Amino acid sequence: MKKSINSLWVNNSLKSKMIRALLCVILTALFLFPKKNMLMAQTWSPNWDSITKHETPEWFRDAKFGIFIHWGVYSVPAWAPRGMYAEWYPTYMYQKDHPVSKYHRNTWGKDFEYRDFIPLWKAENWDPDEWADLFEKAGARYVIPVGEHHDGFPLWDSALTGWNAAQMGPKRDLIRELGEAVRARGMKYGPSYHGLLNYYTSEFSGPHPDYISDDYIEFMHAKIREIIDLFEPDILWLDGDWLQPLEVFRTRELIAYYYNQAEEWGKEVAVNDRWGQVRGIFGDFFTQEYEYDVIDRLIDHKWENTRGMGQSFGYNQNERLEDYLTVGELVELLVDNVSKNANLLLNVGPRADGTIPEVQKKLLLGLGDWLRVNGEAIYGTRPWFTAEATTTEGVRIRFTRKEGKLYVHLLDKPNVSQITIPRIFPDDGAEVSLLATGELLYWNLIDNNLTIKLPERLPGDHVYVLSISDEPGYLMKRSQ
Ligand code: GLC
Repeated sequence: MKKSINSLWVNNSLKSKMIRALLCVILTALFLFPKKNMLMAQTWSPNWDSITKHETPEWFRDAKFGIFIHWGVYSVPAWAPRGMYAEWYPTYMYQKDHPVSKYHRNTWGKDFEYRDFIPLWKAENWDPDEWADLFEKAGARYVIPVGEHHDGFPLWDSALTGWNAAQMGPKRDLIRELGEAVRARGMKYGPSYHGLLNYYTSEFSGPHPDYISDDYIEFMHAKIREIIDLFEPDILWLDGDWLQPLEVFRTRELIAYYYNQAEEWGKEVAVNDRWGQVRGIFGDFFTQEYEYDVIDRLIDHKWENTRGMGQSFGYNQNERLEDYLTVGELVELLVDNVSKNANLLLNVGPRADGTIPEVQKKLLLGLGDWLRVNGEAIYGTRPWFTAEATTTEGVRIRFTRKEGKLYVHLLDKPNVSQITIPRIFPDDGAEVSLLATGELLYWNLIDNNLTIKLPERLPGDHVYVLSISDEPGYLMKRSQ
């Protein structure tokens, strides 16, 4: 009896040991290999209290320069009157008296639908590595290709619709291939989604704002989640936001979802401010486009300026050389933006075959050449007390600062041997030098005006940068 009780006890204790061991194995397995979604971080909720606490990542503040790419079905006709957006072709072609609609009828015929351009978009000369090499040489730190524009045509292999570039037209997953090439070169990547405004799809045709329905919003959410899940974007850039408030688009749900996913991936991410009538109000960074919603001054909130190198985002075959910026203007634009707390998201508009027009390539390489010499005064900098000043000789100046140094960007080439900058006073032992060569320059301070003797020859052709050590002071107010 005793024995049997004992053996029962032994058996029971063995059993419970075994159960405990099994539980241990299961819990360890769950901990090591959590079932997807099971241990999902839920730090962020779809309300203002939560998502407004998100912080703009430092890498985004440091990056300063990104490439936007508008390439799509609209790159086949690639036509708009000079000064207009060519990527709006599918809306303009259906507006009876619009010049694009007249052009369309004359060139392609009145029965030629927007969808008939799809088979003509072949991307036959597209090499994503060549693009990524070019962007890297230009000095870009992140790349935002349009994932889906207002025509509702995704450029990735979407499981939600056959209406996409992997299954029609180019028959390649453009977003995946480009992402691999870009990330292999250390640049950040974030396919954008412009479908908050949809002016043409076979499934949801009809000009805005009639396209808005519960079904459409569900479909749009599913596509944005697809971008998030498939490409783990470093930035989520939306557009088409202006017709409805974000309560209608229900976009706070997407933002919270994205932020939660990013925690899972261990990534610091950023969203723009185009989620439904919240431009300049909510976003890890605000956006400005050409001269709309002009910010054009130093503001505390991080922002991003976006524009094409010419007057359009999508390639416009009508544009002439004089419609494009020059390298000098482009360098100046970047410097101006950076001094005012912005990044520049410069748009590339490739041709339908996947080649980038020569004029755009030259501009990108020109900017890259300047950045190779002067990048120290751009990347990783922060704005100073003031963004701009003018020397007493009339030379326009922009400022940036980093690690105790103040960078003075001379936008104009001085035709004098010395310049005087009002209200800046370096420490006695401070060094003033020309960034391009490191050459030390003589300086002196008289009545809070800093006079710097310039070298005989200023190397380079655009924006000349001087560096001042030891955090010089700034006299906020003009002394009486
Ligand atoms: C505008 C245009 C769109 C472009 C976007 C880029 O919202 O509608 O064509 O994609 O700007 O900022």
